[in-house]
Amino acid sequence: MQKVIAIDGPSASGKSTLARNLAARFQIPYINTGSMFRAVALAAQRRGVDRQDAAGLEAMLRELDIDYRRNAAGDWELALDGEFPGEALRTADIAAGASLVATVPAVREALKAMQRKMAGSQWLVMEGRDIGTNVFPDAEVKVFLTARPEVRAARRAAELRAKGDDVPVDEVLTALLERDRRDSERDVAP
Ligand code: C5P
Repeated sequence: MQKVIAIDGPSASGKSTLARNLAARFQIPYINTGSMFRAVALAAQRRGVDRQDAAGLEAMLRELDIDYRRNAAGDWELALDGEFPGEALRTADIAAGASLVATVPAVREALKAMQRKMAGSQWLVMEGRDIGTNVFPDAEVKVFLTARPEVRAARRAAELRAKGDDVPVDEVLTALLERDRRDSERDVAP
């Protein structure tokens, strides 16, 4: 059994909030795996690699440096090639790109290997779509979190609005349902 609290569920269901609070409560690291897929999409964009070019992505991943470090606020945050990309990971374009690169088996395998390496003798919280089912089927604690699409879309729209991105909630809902469909119907780790 791995000392992992695995939190699975669709986007905007509340996984990050729950994971962050658990990590603060127990003083353990928190790994948001969605940001890893987002980092792959961002790196591909920066290097001019197509988001569905499996061979190109695989080659890129061999030299990509992704890890988690404590940021100035003391939270665990993804670093890409030694720097925090921060908000650059949170754009709608990178979200869509993340769900595209996530359909490529070589990308999932590479990230899964990184994620498994992070677990060890110390507890950690890891959240994503497939952490309890695929990455850590041997996790000691598993949570599946979900909410109605309308509730998730309202939450995501409010998040975007807070960042000055005023997207109508029905547009957010359409994009979210499309991403749900792609995530749940893909061949690998649906
Ligand atoms: O959770 P977040 O919105 O940051 O995830 C971005 C995309 O990364 C998701 O739409 C999904 O396609 C992919 N993902 C995944 N497996 C995970 C985490 C994220 O396929 N464990």
